[in-house]
Amino acid sequence: MGFSLDKVVPWGRSFEEYVKMFNLSDDDLKRRILGCGDGPASFNASLTRRGGNVVSIDPIYNFDLIQIKNRITETYDVVIEQLRKNKDDYVWDTVPSVEELGRIRMSAMELFVSDYETGKNKRYIAGELPILPFENEAFDLALSSHFLFLYSEHLSAGFHVLALQEMLRVANEVKVFPIVTLNGAPSPHLNSVIESLENQKLRVEICKVDYEFQRGANQMLVVTQ
Ligand SMILES: C[S@@+](CC[C@H](N)C(=O)[O-])C[C@H]1O[C@@H](n2cnc3c(N)ncnc32)[C@H](O)[C@@H]1O
Repeated sequence: MGFSLDKVVPWGRSFEEYVKMFNLSDDDLKRRILGCGDGPASFNASLTRRGGNVVSIDPIYNFDLIQIKNRITETYDVVIEQLRKNKDDYVWDTVPSVEELGRIRMSAMELFVSDYETGKNKRYIAGELPILPFENEAFDLALSSHFLFLYSEHLSAGFHVLALQEMLRVANEVKVFPIVTLNGAPSPHLNSVIESLENQKLRVEICKVDYEFQRGANQMLVVTQ
């Protein structure tokens, strides 16, 4: 079955959010970075503007600008409505309201949209975990924001292990945020995935980060060779 855009709810985070989620230092931002499942996030656009070296892969990059833009417009009100209904599941310290969050997300997605055609097939590569179209160690750092663990109900533990192994084939270090599911519970796959990676002599750490929007989602998984 092919990847279908109408199953995706495009919702892109900003550069500043990526920096906090993954605790990225100025030195980290100079590394060769791969974002897996970056979708319409503006991390790639912003980091490229700052002179960084970043590639994003996502199945939505199989689609053209108009198709992605239409999907963003189509789903925006639905997401905002869901957030209003589930407001208590989120921490409203730094972002004071649903409206303000909508504005922040939309401006991140607009930045992505303005950069997409320039970067398409170079910095925005159509692809899908658990297979990455890159050479071994082509990157220093591979990131997964709001894809692995978050969708534990849809993606098996086996998928997670394969995806993380593949990310570690192409990068020396992998960071995943968050490690909870969509309903805010710890991922049921977390322990078995960690065990499997440790059995392969990989170093696994869970680190607290200075970012929490979904309540309880303030830790990232770091895996190194
Ligand atoms: C919730 S969005 C997160 C977007 C972005 N990383 C962020 O945090 O703002 C999840 C993304 O995962 C992408 N995705 C779905 N299946 C994937 C796969 N097998 N490999 C990589 N990305 C995938 C979706 O297309 C979507 O863009």
